[in-house]
Amino acid sequence: MIYKVVRYLNNPILERVADPVTEFDTPELHQLVEDMFETMYSSRGIGLAAPQIDVNMRLAVADISVADGDDEDEAGKGNPEDRIVLINPRITSKDGRVSGEEGCLSIPGFREPVSRAKKIVVRAQDVRGDAFEIEAEDLLARVFQHEIDHLNGVLFINHLSSLKRDLIRRKIRKMMKAGEWE
Ligand code: NI
Repeated sequence: MIYKVVRYLNNPILERVADPVTEFDTPELHQLVEDMFETMYSSRGIGLAAPQIDVNMRLAVADISVADGDDEDEAGKGNPEDRIVLINPRITSKDGRVSGEEGCLSIPGFREPVSRAKKIVVRAQDVRGDAFEIEAEDLLARVFQHEIDHLNGVLFINHLSSLKRDLIRRKIRKMMKAGEWE
């Protein structure tokens, strides 16, 4: 099932801290993860956090193999081995700093450079509740940091100057009034 992705300013869940996942390996959790990948691929995203589909859980999915739509026949699917599920994730170490352009399925149409750690280590649980550690660099590190931010109610525009952020907000409010932001 493809969920509707919640847009910034339309739902306060995007700016709230999400609750930890406590029940693992349930049919509901497996289905939710499956639906999140389906929703992410259909929106041509490379990461999606549960609050973005109005689900208050510390859960995010990512697959950077579909970045830039470089593999047309994989569009809408992705490869199972490229799928990453992060449940109750936390960053345990950060290294370096790099700026790169970022966007968000909840703030479509806007892309801005954001400074992030270049290399990180994340500790998380999988759908069965087993803990694991994953090292990420560059684009994957950026996606993880962006998605973990979502679980803390933080959006990429929170990393911009207040001037830039206000400009984006003003543009969105205009679109809301025109019924172009739903
Ligand atoms: Ni996002």
